[in-house]
Amino acid sequence: MSPRTAHIHPVFDRLLQRGDKEALLGQHGLCIWMTGLSGSGKSTIAVELERLLHASGIHSMVLDGDNVRTGINSNLGFSEVDRTENIRRIAEVAKLFVGNGTVTICCFVSPTIAIREQAKAIIGANDFVEVFVDTPLEECERRDVKGLYAKARAGEVKDFTGISAPFEAPAGRYRCDHHRP
Ligand code: ADX
Repeated sequence: MSPRTAHIHPVFDRLLQRGDKEALLGQHGLCIWMTGLSGSGKSTIAVELERLLHASGIHSMVLDGDNVRTGINSNLGFSEVDRTENIRRIAEVAKLFVGNGTVTICCFVSPTIAIREQAKAIIGANDFVEVFVDTPLEECERRDVKGLYAKARAGEVKDFTGISAPFEAPAGRYRCDHHRP
């Protein structure tokens, strides 16, 4: 126990339990964790997925990097330390949603294996499904929807993932071919 939590007395055991929440909703809580470069399509997929789940009667929540960074994490930047804290807070929030029975869709660059392992450890391996949105850097940069790749190349945005900061692809094998007309 850290000194900061030494005199804290959580009331977890007096609250309704996860099973009670899940029974009420008729679903199980789960975290779908999307990782990938900026502009890879994480948010676009999340928006569609949330609509699909909603239409199927499944209660869900999207936590997205650009949204969260204007609110709870507005004091954080993109150094490794700040990204680690960004993901730590998000994982704690996602854990609360999952414990409430919600299908929680997280879209964060979460660029390193260590950062994603941290999220998985906080949320719990059984409730954590990692999805790698494996769009190549060249394609993300070609689209450059937010204009950030051009700024990163010009040195106007520092520590930009894929350009001047690392991205470690997940080790597992993923395959999902999209054949859009
Ligand atoms: S993470 O690395 O800490 O997981 P997060 O997903 O919250 O990143 O935020 C990434 C979003 O912030 C990107 O989609 C992009 O719009 C914006 N952004 C601004 N600066 C950077 C940067 N230096 N590296 C990556 N993304 C950045």
